[in-house]
Amino acid sequence: MRYIGGKRYLLDSIMAEINNYTKNVSAIVDIFSGSGIVSSKFKEAGYSVIGNDFLYFAYVIGRGSTALNKVPTFKKLGVDNPINYLNLLKIEDTDISLKDCFIYQNYSPHDDVERMYFQENNAIKIDIIRITIEKWRKQSLIDDDEYFYLLASLVSAVPYVSNIAGVYGAYLKHWDARTYNEIYLKPPDVITNNANAKFYNENCDTLLPKISADLLYADPPYNSRQYLPNYHILETVARYDYPKIRGVTGMRDYKEQHSDFCVSKNVETAFRSMIEKANVKYIIISYNNEGLLSTETLSSICSEYAVTNSFHLTEINYRRYNNIGATKRKVVEQLYFFEKIR
Ligand SMILES: C[S@@+](CC[C@H](N)C(=O)[O-])C[C@H]1O[C@@H](n2cnc3c(N)ncnc32)[C@H](O)[C@@H]1O
Repeated sequence: MRYIGGKRYLLDSIMAEINNYTKNVSAIVDIFSGSGIVSSKFKEAGYSVIGNDFLYFAYVIGRGSTALNKVPTFKKLGVDNPINYLNLLKIEDTDISLKDCFIYQNYSPHDDVERMYFQENNAIKIDIIRITIEKWRKQSLIDDDEYFYLLASLVSAVPYVSNIAGVYGAYLKHWDARTYNEIYLKPPDVITNNANAKFYNENCDTLLPKISADLLYADPPYNSRQYLPNYHILETVARYDYPKIRGVTGMRDYKEQHSDFCVSKNVETAFRSMIEKANVKYIIISYNNEGLLSTETLSSICSEYAVTNSFHLTEINYRRYNNIGATKRKVVEQLYFFEKIR
């Protein structure tokens, strides 16, 4: 999935830090797992992984793919290929009423609804697939692994038919070509190497004191853009909790998913608290030179908690630019590494 701050292109650099500067690491925490791409790389490399994100849909993606060690068999459901079954589902074949279809009712233009996030057929399809998965679970026809596998497949498919320029903070005012494709679920990637991978859906502050590992990989937000508003519809598809929504974009409330890493006056304390709470030997923090915290400040915080001579900063000149006024500034990706004093 295309994800703000996604680290697909930094995977090799992250792995190089671990290979070159650590000893005896077998368990890693990916405390801000987002799209789950880094957790899956860690698992693929044979590490035992704890993934976490306070967005539920991010949790769903990790729980329904990387956390599994085999593709679910859906024995009890008695449907040969449930993903295929859901792809072919039509509202006429179900007893679902349009009035219960939350995505259609709020995010597809009809009657007095103006929001243009989905074409009508895709909105209804998302709803009936989501409602069917929930019904199967309520009837105990699928277990938790099977439930999250199907949900991960649905959540990952939604962006491909959404009428957005990457995020859900706004919809486009004309229909993008991709919205005319019918939504198509694919089987999530399952890594079958039997490495342990467990996912959580908590604030880092509450989770870190309860877990321990050899290394913490922390990829927090780096600017003031909160994540939930940019992904609110994926969150609602994942939760399907008929939330109260408001405004032009139909935003759900996100008091509980407001990150201190996105608030200038709180970000330093947020970093300190995360480092202090981490029961680990090594810490790697992903950040960049455009972050709310300057390179000097974050380096000095890391050094304060680091065993003597263990801190270093690796900068990666990735081909990415930020337009600030008329000038184009190069974004430098950063990996802060240190061994934590304990
Ligand atoms: C830069 S993204 C991580 C991207 C991820 N490494 C990837 O490659 O896809 C930061 C993530 O941190 C999550 N987040 C922000 N503040 C958080 C907090 N206090 N506790 C838990 N998760 C948080 C956001 O929801 C977002 O998914």
